[in-house]
This record gives sequence, C-alpha cells and structure tokens, in this order.
Amino acid sequence: MPETDVKKHEPSPDFVKHAHVDAAKYEEMYKASIEDPDGFWGEHGKRIDWIKPYTKVKNTDFTYGQVDIKWFEDGTLNVAANCIDRHLKDRGDQTAIIWVPDEDDGSDQHISYNQLSSHVNKFANVLKGMGVGRGDRVVIYLPMIPQAAYAMLACARIGAIHSVVFAGFSPDALASRVNGSEAKVVITADGGPRGGKVTSLKDNADKAFEKIEHDAKLLVVKRAGNDISWTDGRDHWLHELEDGVSDDCPPEEMGAEDPLFILYTSGSTGQPKGVVHTQGGYLVYTSMTHEYTFDYHDGDVYWCTADVGWVTGHSYIVYGPLANGATTVMFEGVPTYPDAGRFWKICQDHKVAQFYTAPTAIRALMGKGNGPVEKYDLSSLKVLGTVGEPINPEAWNWYDQVVGKGRCPIVDTWWQTETGGHMLTPLPGATATKPGSATQPFFGVQPVVLDAESGSVLEGPGVEGVLAIADSWPSQMRTVYGDHERFMNTYFQQYKGYYFTEDGCMRDEDGYYWITGRVDDVLNVSGHRMGTAEIESALVSHPAVNEAAVVGVPHEVKGQAIYCYVSLMDGHEPSEELKKELQTHVRTEIGPIAKPDFIQWAPGLPKTRSGKIMRRILRKVAANEHEQLGDTSTLAEPEVVDDLIANRLNK
Ligand code: WTA
Repeated sequence: MPETDVKKHEPSPDFVKHAHVDAAKYEEMYKASIEDPDGFWGEHGKRIDWIKPYTKVKNTDFTYGQVDIKWFEDGTLNVAANCIDRHLKDRGDQTAIIWVPDEDDGSDQHISYNQLSSHVNKFANVLKGMGVGRGDRVVIYLPMIPQAAYAMLACARIGAIHSVVFAGFSPDALASRVNGSEAKVVITADGGPRGGKVTSLKDNADKAFEKIEHDAKLLVVKRAGNDISWTDGRDHWLHELEDGVSDDCPPEEMGAEDPLFILYTSGSTGQPKGVVHTQGGYLVYTSMTHEYTFDYHDGDVYWCTADVGWVTGHSYIVYGPLANGATTVMFEGVPTYPDAGRFWKICQDHKVAQFYTAPTAIRALMGKGNGPVEKYDLSSLKVLGTVGEPINPEAWNWYDQVVGKGRCPIVDTWWQTETGGHMLTPLPGATATKPGSATQPFFGVQPVVLDAESGSVLEGPGVEGVLAIADSWPSQMRTVYGDHERFMNTYFQQYKGYYFTEDGCMRDEDGYYWITGRVDDVLNVSGHRMGTAEIESALVSHPAVNEAAVVGVPHEVKGQAIYCYVSLMDGHEPSEELKKELQTHVRTEIGPIAKPDFIQWAPGLPKTRSGKIMRRILRKVAANEHEQLGDTSTLAEPEVVDDLIANRLNK
C-alpha cells in the first residue's frame, strides 16, 4: 500500500496566474462535465472543426450484452484536416514537428505545418495509387521518423484505418497483426537506427510476409541506407512513388464514429486484441487533454518521448498536439545514446516547455547521477509528465528536484490504450500533487473503486479495491476489431454497468487516486504492456517445453522483470544452452521486449486440484517472498512448491 500521507506540492502562485485552469475552475468544470455531459461535451466538441456539425453528443450504453458507445455520432470531419489544414492560414510556417535523429549530429529537422501538409498529401496520394481507400487497413511498421506521422495522417486523410506495430516487435508479431487486420499495405523502412545500431526492419517485414496470408504490398521508406533484399511487384520505395505525385489530396468526409485506427494491445488471456478508436470523440478528447494536462500554450515546444508504436505516441505525439497546432518533438533514439545527457540536451537545444516520459526512463537516468542533467540549461521546462506505470516517490522526487528544479509541476497521468487519453491526472495549475498519485479525474471521467470480490462500490476516503469507470468519455475504445463479444467480455462482464480497468487502486483521505498496478495477468516491463499468456504460448511453442507459467517480479529500473517457470518434455534436460535458446525463441516470437529475464526449471507447477495454476504462489516465490505464501491448502501437490523455493533464481 503506498504511503499516502505525504507532503503535497502546491502549484506556485506564479504558475497558477498563467495556467488555463486553477483549482476553482477545475472544480467548476469537473462538476459541469458530470452533471451535464451533453452540455459540457457539446460545447468542448467545438474545439475541433466539423464538416457537418453534430446535433447529438453522447449516446452510450455500458449494459453487458448491449455495450454501445457513440459520441457526436451525426457529425462528420476529417482528422488530418484538423491536424493540418486548419492551421495553414495562421501558422503555416510554424514548426509542427521537430525531428531529432538517433545520431547527435546536428541534423535535427524542423517541419513546418506547410511542409507537413505537402508530405501528408503526397503520402495520401501514394496510398490511393496503391489501391487504398476508405475503410481499408494499413499497417505501419516504422522507426521514429517523420514518415511515421505522415503515414498515420495520410491514412486519416483518405479514411483508411491504420494499425501501427511497434518497430521492436518481431516478424511473427507483425505478421499476426497484418493478418488480423487484413491490411492492404504494410509500410516499413529499410532500417531503423537506435542507440547507434541499425535494425533492418525491411528484413523483418520480408520474414513477416512469408506468413502473411493475403495479397499485400510493402511500401518502403529509405532511412538507414542498409542493404536489403527486394521483391519486385510487391515492394515499392516511397520516394519513387512520391516522385511527381500531387501534393493535393482532398480530405475524405468521415463520420465521427468511423474507425480511425486499430492498435493491438495485450490482455490477460489469449493473443493481443485490436483496440478500435474512432474519429470524433478521440480527437476532441486527446486535443483537450493535451492542452489542459500539460497546460500547453501557443508557442510552447512540447516533447513526448514515447514511440508511435504505443498509444501514448498516437495521442500525445501525433493527434492531440497537432490538432492543437502545437510544435511536437519526435525523437528517434534512446535516452542513453550517445550518453545519459541526451534527453536534457534535446530539452536545451529545442527549449522544450513540456516534457513527458515514463518512470522507467526516469529511474534509468536517475541511476546515472545528477551530472548529466546539470550539464544542460533546463530553464525552458514548465511542466513534467509521466505515464505508463506507477512512479515511485524516489523517482518522482528526483524528477521534481533535479530535472524540474522544484519549479515544474509534475503530471502523473494514468490512462490506457483502451481509454485513448488521460483519465486520472493532475492539472498543473489546479492540483496539488503527491508523489506517486495520479490524483484526480479529468473532466467527464467518473472513477469508482470497487470491492474486487463482491463488486460493490466502496464509498468515501481510505478505500482500496479495483478501479472502474462509471460512465463513458469521448475517447473510449469502441470495440475489439472484429470481435465485439470479446470487448464486452473483457471490460464489461465482471462488474456490471462499469468499464473495468483491470488496475488495482486506492482512494486516500483527500480523494486522490493511487494506482497499485494490474490485477490481471498483464506485465508492465519498462512501461511496455505484455500478457503473461502471450509469453507462455511462445514458450510452449518450443518443442522442448511441456508447460510454462510466467509472472512479473519487481525490478528497480524496469518496474517489472519477466520470470518464467518452465517444465520440460520427457527426453529434454535443463541446460544453460537451452535457457538461451528459449530466450531467443521468445524474442523471435514476440520481440526483444519480451525476452525472459529469469527461466527457472520447474519439474511441476503448483496447481489447484481442479488444475488451475496458482500464480499467486509463483509470484511470491519469484519475488523471494516465499515466507508469505498465504493459503496453500488447495494445492494438489504441496511438495512442488518446496522444489520451486529451493531452486528460485531471484535471491
Ligand atoms: C499502467 C499506456 C500507474 C496501468 C498509456 C494501465 C499506469 C496500463 C499509469 C496501460 C500511471 C499507465 N500510473 N499505472 N500514471 N499509466 N499505467 O495500455 O497498469 O500501454 O492499465 O497505456 O499501464 O498501459 P497501456
């Protein structure tokens, strides 16, 4: 349980003076958003441009069996026109994207809104020329280069649905996502430089194509200049297809509830599911949270260090900031290359005002000491943000004192791929923060803490349970791609009438929320979300493996590490060699982020008499907390546990 009785950090009067929202305004707006969602969102929905204005605002139903979520349903718009065209008149020459490459060689690019427009229109015409139209799916498998943003916006412009696959995923993971969405075109690059090393994404895409079951084309961006192989007829260079193409592609008129993108994310069971977000509500909510959560003002340079392969990159590198006409930084590299001062050098070079990163990066950099931070002038910073996992108070304090010099409010934003945008977060001019707490709900968000067993609502302060949301908000996911049943079963079945977040949570004496982590079998490794079931299924697909169980163990920098218990098929013996082989196998099946940290050979796994693996016990053993195993009376073979304890690895 977190220590909640801690000193509050009040926003400074100076900050409050210039902030969009102070404490009183937050109360007033929050109240209005809950009492009259139609009125509130009807008004704030106007922050984006509509082709045909909506007359209906909210039409949502959380009833299990008939879950249906619609916002602004009769309005029409184009998301790319909102992120580009509408800014051209007043800020065509303003920088839209500052691109910072992996190498620190001064070749950073400033891409103006006019230039962004030209790139996106051309890209859109190229996709059209490849036969992509409204409703077709396009998979984007790119490094952090401007073309990733162009590709997303080009899809939005022509009404195609993009599905970005993180460039760190393996060919198999890419293939399953291309197959799952039946994408017509896959967009990749020859190679992606990160931390001084080039990954040949084209090679990965080639391997993926061996497993792609339908006819698809591959569009290749030239980035690293590495050697690649080529399949005539299937593969096309972007720069060749762009040659001579018009930079005028009229935006499609899309319905507010037409899908904008699919993003695959891990859950507790089965393979990753395709989270579907739609056009109108998503853009209203991401642009609004971007402005309010970061207290973004015109002229600020804003930087979110996430990758566009994750939802954070979608909502807070591309769509939210660009809808607001912001200047958004896109960084190709890693925090520690060429050295641990890289983030801070970029903040200095580009006078970054809002900086948004993950606790795992903060912890890793904290481990390098204060020197690399103090070398740079960080006086441009105004607001610091975190996302992805709970932040421990030590890291919070270091961020506050060493990076923010005690003068930048920290916004600890809790949200999920499914929620599209920030759900619990301080607003920098309004909320007194407590290290480790995501504090209070954003406008329109109604969090409830439920008793995990009974599902009853726990009222008042000082309660702990699971976090659910009582009513819809505009950027809520609408469905699982092609499987609405799965959507309802995952989020609306267990606690009827609520959206279940699958996070544990407590509400303290001030009404602040503290996320305690996932209550399902989802791991959070360096802010990357992974299902234990996916890793287990990768392990058992190896011929030597009979059974596998995967749990997370606390890790100082990564948040969690991956701990696997593996029992082998008869005829296979444990060895260091086999361990390495299994690690490589999981890397190949899923990607480097899923590589097991620990593999413990387990002759048997602790199961109940009905055959259910008792993960609680496995978690305790892995965390070296076997003194507190809890109730073991339902174990079928108690002696199995003694063996696991004797051979545990994380001592
Ligand atoms: C966790 C990332 C505590 C949480 C935007 C959630 C957090 C999962 C926070 C979603 C935070 C995210 N404090 N935990 N500020 N932000 N999480 O879908 O467990 O990659 O359910 O979305 O990350 O991860 P996802």
